[in-house]
Amino acid sequence: MATGTVDFTDVKWTMLVTLYHRARDSRSARPILGDTVAAEAVDRIDYDFDSFRMRATSGDRALVVLRAKQLDEWAGDFLTRHPEATVLQLGCGLDGRAFRLDLPERVRWFDVDLPEVIELRRRIYEERPGYRMIGSSVTDPEWLAEIPADRPVLVLAEGLLMYLEQEQVRTLLTRITERFSGGELLFDGAVSWVVRVSRMLPGFTSAFRMNWSVDGGAEIEHLIPALRRLEERAVTSESGRIGDPVLRGVYELIARIPLLKDSLRLYRFAFGKSA
Ligand SMILES: C[S@@+](CC[C@H](N)C(=O)[O-])C[C@H]1O[C@@H](n2cnc3c(N)ncnc32)[C@H](O)[C@@H]1O
Repeated sequence: MATGTVDFTDVKWTMLVTLYHRARDSRSARPILGDTVAAEAVDRIDYDFDSFRMRATSGDRALVVLRAKQLDEWAGDFLTRHPEATVLQLGCGLDGRAFRLDLPERVRWFDVDLPEVIELRRRIYEERPGYRMIGSSVTDPEWLAEIPADRPVLVLAEGLLMYLEQEQVRTLLTRITERFSGGELLFDGAVSWVVRVSRMLPGFTSAFRMNWSVDGGAEIEHLIPALRRLEERAVTSESGRIGDPVLRGVYELIARIPLLKDSLRLYRFAFGKSA
């Protein structure tokens, strides 16, 4: 199905950027993630992915795919232990994780994003038994009330929470821990200097202006006491996965500069009854 011309400029544009990076990675000589679903999606969207504004974000490609790779592994690990889980992927954009991962048959997967994004998403991906899309702000309480709470839950929020206000993050994650009896939450968080700098971004890059910063997992445990930290790591610590030796060298250098090394961290939390 044709998508019609896509013309997002605000935070919704950022999901075209992450999709583009996954697609480019999958077409590179040494893919990190190998997301062919993203490459197929890019081909179906009426949007100029060769534009200057899109190419100007190329420096973020490795960060985007390293983040996705680690989250895929954590998600796969949870689903091996809980093959009947419910998965909520919040701020899913056009991410095809539900199709990229080898899901156990009984998994129930919900992809949630703003209505305009889900409208576009429905032109690219189809619902099927065990897979649904929900067009709503994640800050709206109604969508969560629709999700059956009878199974362990895996919540993924990749590149989302930094765009919300702290009180919205607290309310959303607290609501989830209250609705389900147990599960895991996987997400990334930007440190405070990154959020401060992002707020000064000019022109088209202003779509990346962030609101919520987090300087380590202890802050999250303080904000949402129901959460127990299982793991946290800097995205740059994953540079060993980069096949291109020049790019890997750049990331190894970044990983030695304390300020840059920790700019984006990945978090894995558990709550309630979870094993
Ligand atoms: C950086 S993109 C990440 C998309 C996807 N997770 C990925 O990795 O490709 C941020 C996404 O968050 C979504 N988003 C921002 N605020 C939201 C909200 N209040 N409710 C639902 N989605 C939201 C945007 O529409 C966008 O799709």
